[in-house]
Amino acid sequence: ATERTLSIIKPDATRRNLTGKINARFEENGLRIVAQKRVRLTKEQAEAFYGVHRERSFFGELVAFMISGPVVVQVLEGENAVLKNRDIMGATNPANAAAGTIRADFAESVEANSVHGSDSAENAAIEIAYFFAQSEIVA
Ligand code: CMP
Repeated sequence: ATERTLSIIKPDATRRNLTGKINARFEENGLRIVAQKRVRLTKEQAEAFYGVHRERSFFGELVAFMISGPVVVQVLEGENAVLKNRDIMGATNPANAAAGTIRADFAESVEANSVHGSDSAENAAIEIAYFFAQSEIVA
């Protein structure tokens, strides 16, 4: 079925001017960028977005990293978009990411791993609503 997923191009990738190369991976694999904006997250936004990880040891560093530079938040649409994007991104830790995935090719570390993607359709809906009004998503 046609789905939508939330994607974030993280500060390590925007710093290295990789937005276009990463977007090409999505488009080459059949996902459409139906909403996109470049923003600087506030600490409060990053903490709320990653709220499920609040108790994890890496939470503070994760938030600090996510506000260390601009991010590009986007909505990707396509057949099985949630799972497809997870395949395109590769494993969270680039050391474990399959060849040809975004994280294998571009990520610097498990923290500076270049992209975020929703892990389920349910979370995708929540994450998309966190960043975008319906009127900003143009299919
Ligand atoms: P993301 O998909 O954005 O969701 C949570 C993020 O926490 C994850 O990608 C990683 O970039 C980040 N992170 C930082 N350290 C760790 C760690 N030790 N284990 C898992 N995720 C981590």
